[in-house]
Amino acid sequence: MKLPRIDIAGLIAAMTLREKIGQLTMVTGEWAVTGPKTMPVSMDAIRAGDAGSILNLWSPQALREVQAAALESRLRIPLFAGYDVVHGHRTIFPIPLGEAASFDCDLWRRTAAAAADEAAEDGISLTFAPMLDVARDLRWGRILEGAGEDPFVASEVGRAKTVGYQGERLDDPRHVAACAKHIGAYGAVLAGRDYATADVSPRELEEVHLPAFEAAVAAGVAAVMPSFNDIAGIPSHANRQLLDGYLRRRFGFDGVVISDYNGIAELVVHGAAADLAEAAALALRAGVDIDMMGGAYRDGLEEALRRGLISEAEIDTAVRRVLTLKERLGLFANPLRGLIGDKPAPVRHRALSREAARKSVVLLKNAQAVLPLAGQGGPIAVIGPLADSGSDMLGAWAGAGRGEECVTFVTGLRAAFPSRAVAQARGCEILSGSADDQALALTAARQAEVVVLCLGEERGMSGEASCRAEPDLPEVQIGLARAVLALGKPVVLVISSGRPIILPKDIVEGVSAILATWFLGSEAGNALGDILSGSAAPGGRLPVSWPYSAGQAPIYYARRRSGRPADTNQHYTSKYLDVPVEPLYPFGHGLSYTTFRIENLRLSASEMTASDGVDVAVDVVNTGGRAGDTTVFMFIQDPVASVTRPVLAAKGFAKVSLAAGERRALRFRLTGADLRFPGIDMQPRIENGRIDVLAGERAVESELLRASLTVTGGVSSMQT
Ligand code: GLC
Repeated sequence: MKLPRIDIAGLIAAMTLREKIGQLTMVTGEWAVTGPKTMPVSMDAIRAGDAGSILNLWSPQALREVQAAALESRLRIPLFAGYDVVHGHRTIFPIPLGEAASFDCDLWRRTAAAAADEAAEDGISLTFAPMLDVARDLRWGRILEGAGEDPFVASEVGRAKTVGYQGERLDDPRHVAACAKHIGAYGAVLAGRDYATADVSPRELEEVHLPAFEAAVAAGVAAVMPSFNDIAGIPSHANRQLLDGYLRRRFGFDGVVISDYNGIAELVVHGAAADLAEAAALALRAGVDIDMMGGAYRDGLEEALRRGLISEAEIDTAVRRVLTLKERLGLFANPLRGLIGDKPAPVRHRALSREAARKSVVLLKNAQAVLPLAGQGGPIAVIGPLADSGSDMLGAWAGAGRGEECVTFVTGLRAAFPSRAVAQARGCEILSGSADDQALALTAARQAEVVVLCLGEERGMSGEASCRAEPDLPEVQIGLARAVLALGKPVVLVISSGRPIILPKDIVEGVSAILATWFLGSEAGNALGDILSGSAAPGGRLPVSWPYSAGQAPIYYARRRSGRPADTNQHYTSKYLDVPVEPLYPFGHGLSYTTFRIENLRLSASEMTASDGVDVAVDVVNTGGRAGDTTVFMFIQDPVASVTRPVLAAKGFAKVSLAAGERRALRFRLTGADLRFPGIDMQPRIENGRIDVLAGERAVESELLRASLTVTGGVSSMQT
């Protein structure tokens, strides 16, 4: 149905300055508190047209009330409601770092669409997602929220999530606008501390932190949010080169830039602005259209105009973008948009949540094939502070999810093993414990044939402003694990966390199996039961390197070689005295219940021009006795270039399900664009010479198949 076009120019011409600034102001409904101060929703302000959008408010009743107030304003401009629907709305899916482990682009799209469906029903028109910050430092609490360490993977997530949330048309009432966040380099904050400076080079910014935003823009993302941090002293909310130069001019973004929470007013705290008027002027000129919860535009823009720091035409440009978004959302024609009924959206997508959770679990270790557990046998003891927790399964950014609606691990295991006794004891709390608690757990363990030990973080130990300098397994849990291991029973360690966490060597070696389950959402227990019982095989792969020590951070596979690469046999090389330089588990690591062989890597040509490309194929064989999934990565390596290149760079991945003995050819396309990089002068270039193409299941160079080709038609690496 084609909606009548609104005469936006005519509407702007009719607006007073106050009404224009109102459209650029977002207030909070306070149903969730996601920032340092609240400018509570005032119905009078909304009736006066002083707020054009609202965040952190949902449900049919609340949205009907606030939209009715907006339509009482002089020009009857509807507001839009935004919310952090990051990994589900009422049905909660695995945290994004966990879902990234599925390497299943279609799944990423489907869960976003399902989340949009429930959110739209609750009156949400825009989600502050996907979060596309590349993160390589496990100390940073928000590593949970993105797709891990690799810009190519983050780009694929950005594309899939944008399409999933937004659907074909923004006025589709079962979909919502997406807001890619947080541009830029937020994942590179100093020492993993949230909001700290990110002193990255222009090259790292372009090659690592911006590609996912370019991909989301190419997929039509409707909004983008700047990051809290500064990039080498320029706060993103005032960074015109970032928001106008890269985002709008180079990437072609024509949507709305929504500040992060109070991000404009905080330009004063950064020391980039003397007062709110200067902060408002810097942000508007940089290209920030909406001031989320800062009051900077409300209290500073008129003064900035009076001082001549900005023009009313610049204000009109921002207003035009906001009104255009509202029209694209269909809000003028249908202010209640996706709202249906008068009750909050129920949990509607459990089956999908269970599928996503299963695919997100990464089997890190499975000694003597202790997993899957037999359907018949002696008691199973489910021990640990996360064994019976529903709320922790929500993870951070839990939307409208409710802990009591999450299937706990012990509930799921009891359902998966109906013929086995399943005992449960916490043994300790997340950070504290008592001898009595531990004694009870040990009694259960003594009587069991196998122990499923559920340890890790509580949901509040990762997320925004939740960074950990020592991201270890808490001491009390280490004590519990050692006491259980001393009993000599097979132990399956199930880790719930918002990040890779540091595991003591004796525990890694002592347990029989280790599963990284992140925070799996509404169907956590059923998904774990599917995996441990073998009714589903684990297929997750690490989207982020899992270190031995936090001292290794930032750690990632796509590092530059250096002139003295680590060599434990050579003193003068880039290594530590006390810890390996490699991670405990590398990017791409993950086991299944079967085995695979990757072979026969072949290229369609041994030469390619900069404007052309080659086809890459590789065979995968399931060499084990049962069906399983694996993910194969295509990397490139550029051995000589004018700017030294990462030792490996992912340029493709494919997930494949194979029956026992089945062989499948996987096909990729490598193009000149995949080889392009910013030269010494920061101008994009493709260089002639050898390029190696590598394929395999993990970012471990020695394990990968390799084929070489020669690039011609580019520039010489010596031509700089
Ligand atoms: C928070 C987060 C951002 C979120 C916003 C609204 O501070 O940084 O990701 O979308 O505020 O909740």
